[in-house]
Amino acid sequence: MADALDFCNPFWEKPKFKKTTLAMSSRISDLASIGIAALAIDGKGTIAVKSWSTDSVEFRVKQTGDTPYPILVLKITNSTVSFSQEDKDGNATPLIDESVRPEGNPYVPTIAPKDGTVYWLSVDRSNRVLRYGKHYTCKALTLMEVKLDSQLDLWLEHLGPVEVDDGASPQVKISRLPVIVDLPPTVVTNEEVSLRDLSLRRVTTWANLPEACQKLYHNVAGKNVTLESPDFEGFADAIHKSVTTEGYWGHSKLKSKCKDPNNVEIDEFRHKYLRITIGSHTGNSPGIPYVMEVWPPRHRSPIHDHGNACAVIRILSGAIQCTWYDAVIGGAEPTKLGEPVVLKKDKITWIGDNQYQVHALENTKEETCVTLQCYAFTDDNNLHVEKFQYIDAKSKDKAPFTPNSDCTFEDFYTYMKWEWDNKGPYPTGP
Ligand SMILES: [Fe+2]
Repeated sequence: MADALDFCNPFWEKPKFKKTTLAMSSRISDLASIGIAALAIDGKGTIAVKSWSTDSVEFRVKQTGDTPYPILVLKITNSTVSFSQEDKDGNATPLIDESVRPEGNPYVPTIAPKDGTVYWLSVDRSNRVLRYGKHYTCKALTLMEVKLDSQLDLWLEHLGPVEVDDGASPQVKISRLPVIVDLPPTVVTNEEVSLRDLSLRRVTTWANLPEACQKLYHNVAGKNVTLESPDFEGFADAIHKSVTTEGYWGHSKLKSKCKDPNNVEIDEFRHKYLRITIGSHTGNSPGIPYVMEVWPPRHRSPIHDHGNACAVIRILSGAIQCTWYDAVIGGAEPTKLGEPVVLKKDKITWIGDNQYQVHALENTKEETCVTLQCYAFTDDNNLHVEKFQYIDAKSKDKAPFTPNSDCTFEDFYTYMKWEWDNKGPYPTGP
């Protein structure tokens, strides 16, 4: 599983761009409160800051060249968000904005979450669109956008120097490109993709994924990565029998993960699933990078993030419902994004360091689902947060989860084969 706001991630390493010395704005007199940066391409890019402000966060993007005016201003307060153009006398002309979806957790919180909040502004001169969002820099997390007309083209083309004021000199991260579209969650090969798929953006090929996801994909997408091997044809059925039958190894193991294995609460039990690790820890992922997860019927995960790691998930048997959310924040209910998707056998989905980071998985079918989860940090991640964060189903608080192992794959294979061949529970139990 996986911290949207434990945002100690690749994102927060020292910026590689050279900071620019900028003329101080007439409205911002305390330079110590300002984070400074510059768009890598004039009129294009995404500006993000992590802030603990309980008052306001103000983005100011100036013109390159001799005069900084008019300045693009995005101001977020406890109860408002506004886009405007500011002239040299400090007069603001509002830019007409459109709310894309309501804020799950209102604007700038009056009590800052322990891990702060990420705010971002995307500048897209190609499509004449400005976007504001929170948490992860992806289109799904856009909260407000402004569509501009062609009269502002020249102004947009010269937006470059950036100041962000939150009263505490926030670190500013610039991404080279604006937030425009999100890749779909389902991954296919180039042999499978059709013109209509491309047109409707209903799947993506592996080639569009972050490099860390591409490596994971190639390791697990092969036809022999399957439960259907000639030496154990009943593997998937054996797993289903084991996790759904009292006394069998899988069912006993699931019960042993509950607080009181001898008196299991059904709701707690249905939040348990098996993590069967494959191979060893290679030092570039939260926990062992390859994990087979076993989801009995009606079992589910809590809402969780993935420590900003990339991931690829392949469905080996059955089907799993995936629901995505905005962020894991203590004391706040995550906001659901879009509609859940049911991924069937052989489908592959992915998680990027800024895409699909927060989800919940649930087996809504009567057949046990087996998935293969694969994790890796991106090459520019120098922090390696090895814990996921989840929302506790009862308390609704945020809690850490260290990716663990219930069993190695080799031992699990032995137990399942024994139970299948002998038509009874493995004698020594978990
Ligand atoms: Fe997950």
